[in-house]
Amino acid sequence: MKAKSIRGFNDILPEDTTRWCYVEEKAKATFEPYGFSEIRIPIVEFTEVFVRSLGTSTDVVEKEMYTFTDRDNSSITLRPEGTAGVVRAYVEHSMHAKSSITKLYYSGMMFRHERPQKGRYRGFYQIGAELFGSIYPTADAEIITMLMSFFEATGLSQYVTLELNSLGDENCKPRHKEKIIEYFTPLKGDLCEDCQRRLKTNPLRILDCKNPSCEAMARNSPSMLENLCDECKNHFEAVKENLNVVGVQFTINPRIVRGLDYYNRTVFEITTDRLGAQNAVAAGGRYDGLVKELGGPKTPAVGFAMGIDRIILLHKLTAPSGFEKEVDLFIAHLGKEALKKSFSLAYELRRIGVHTEMDYGAKSLKSQLRRADKSGAKYAFIIGEDELSRGKLTVRDMRKSSEEEVDIEEICKSAVKYKS
Ligand code: HAM
Repeated sequence: MKAKSIRGFNDILPEDTTRWCYVEEKAKATFEPYGFSEIRIPIVEFTEVFVRSLGTSTDVVEKEMYTFTDRDNSSITLRPEGTAGVVRAYVEHSMHAKSSITKLYYSGMMFRHERPQKGRYRGFYQIGAELFGSIYPTADAEIITMLMSFFEATGLSQYVTLELNSLGDENCKPRHKEKIIEYFTPLKGDLCEDCQRRLKTNPLRILDCKNPSCEAMARNSPSMLENLCDECKNHFEAVKENLNVVGVQFTINPRIVRGLDYYNRTVFEITTDRLGAQNAVAAGGRYDGLVKELGGPKTPAVGFAMGIDRIILLHKLTAPSGFEKEVDLFIAHLGKEALKKSFSLAYELRRIGVHTEMDYGAKSLKSQLRRADKSGAKYAFIIGEDELSRGKLTVRDMRKSSEEEVDIEEICKSAVKYKS
């Protein structure tokens, strides 16, 4: 029986990795001028790091975490997202004491036991960024601007929309919560079982339920924006103003509630209409209470994470070609001495960065040239015993099908011209 991968976990095959690297490099190149440094955190944490951060009544914590009992009986969880681990590291290494502002980015695989479908996996990749230490709306605007610059750098900005909302803070959230309870209580019988429970435990979570009946009712529920306190209103206005200053376009979507509990004030999602149901390609917001929740000093923070699998799907759809691996040169050889010469020539060419392929054995010239053709090589070097004895080889231009005989020593000196 053939070995199989686990459902919801994908291989990223060599034909796609060039594109993945391109996207990852664009993220890095976009983040570094903003002063973000990379942090690498473990893929497992104590379960309580996620439970305390994301909230006990979120879908992720209730249904989707990969949680195991370790050999010492501690409960550990494969990270379902990166923010909780980054905050844990921020607190553990007392980063607040080193600098009043800390900017970190990270990338890697996240794990959620969701129902797999196109764009939604159980093992998926995120690149995220977190900015610690500023309560000011300029920080929210900076993080959003940086995210939008990434979409610009990858040529995707025309396919995505930035949606913004504010969830308020500890002053105005309770007022909104009351309004939500008032609205849903008479409708309780039509809510799904989970939401009937949420009405008591965490009513705002109802707004994030994917059950069609709950979703339909949520559409007419009171908007948080109507209940914001003055401070939150001013904060939100200033975020919008700053985005306008740099020409970042957005729409207001009062339905954004986010699936994780740590957010307050600004929240945002980047969506696309090209990927069907899994339309969110990035999301984030402010979370001023989380550092304290994980045992650090009260420290405001704001961040986002991008769903790289979805971004790659979108990129493939909108820029289908240009990411194929290219072979510069194929060396075909005939005879034992020619094989040895080819091997040393390939070694020298690769050392100067020319992507060179050759046949390992003693195949016929015809079959080697067939392989050269299939590899997409732009040139083939053909070395036969007779040519070798004269210090020559034949250069074949694979596109033009033209050939010329050249001096082996000469070609070594000018070989860099074959590098694409
Ligand atoms: P999130 O909205 O849960 O936020 O995930 C961010 C992005 O990860 C989503 O917009 C989506 O593109 C991608 N994603 C999520 N789940 C899946 C999945 N099952 N398959 C494929 N892609 C997925 C967070 O994770 C927060 N930590 C973001 C954040 C950072 N907020 C503040 N800082």
